[in-house]
Amino acid sequence: MGTPISVSFPAGFFDRSDPRDDTVFYGMPRLVQHIDEGAIASVSAYYDEVGVDGDVLDLMSSWVSHMSTPPRRLTVLGMNDAEMRANTWAHERVVHDLNADPRVPFDDGSFDTVVCSMSVDYLTDPVSVFRDVARVLRPGGKFAVTFSNRCFPTKAVRGWLSTDDAGHVRIVTDYFRASGAFGEPVAEERPSAGDPVFAVCAPRS
Ligand SMILES: C[S@@+](CC[C@H](N)C(=O)[O-])C[C@H]1O[C@@H](n2cnc3c(N)ncnc32)[C@H](O)[C@@H]1O
Repeated sequence: MGTPISVSFPAGFFDRSDPRDDTVFYGMPRLVQHIDEGAIASVSAYYDEVGVDGDVLDLMSSWVSHMSTPPRRLTVLGMNDAEMRANTWAHERVVHDLNADPRVPFDDGSFDTVVCSMSVDYLTDPVSVFRDVARVLRPGGKFAVTFSNRCFPTKAVRGWLSTDDAGHVRIVTDYFRASGAFGEPVAEERPSAGDPVFAVCAPRS
């Protein structure tokens, strides 16, 4: 484990305007795309560059994972069973509320890569989740987080809603650093023919 860099989030940063249990909002399946085709292509190209393959965990997943080709073994974790059943690439599907329990429910060193797409803004205890993502990664494994400028505003944390794209990149970088469990994160805006795509990625330390 690296040394956590002290990052403080202001009071109320992780509040949400809909504070109800996430099972209420995510109980109904949404078989929709959360970003447009250009942005999906951008995320796929990014995953190709990062080398998302092997045993992959798609954290906060729905019915589509955005790799260009299916990884050797894909595990998806999200809130809605029907959505994840529609994810035909998945070998394993786990319904788990990371805001009720930030532990990622897998053994140490289970994955080569963990990805989290268009969802990091919904986490109310992200630093604990990021630290536990490092635990389930193999040595050298990477955690790749992508996001755009769209969200479900009632479920995103207040700190996210209070800033802009550059602020979101700083927030995710801070989550990595505060976890103390990763090498230095690399943040970038990715080329996209549609919705903007931002990515922050770091190797497990
Ligand atoms: C905007 S969708 C993004 C889905 C997918 N990652 C994508 O890129 O299309 C948000 C996803 O976050 C998941 N999610 C939201 N809150 C969660 C929580 N507390 N624990 C686990 N997953 C959660 C939901 O199941 C949903 O699939």
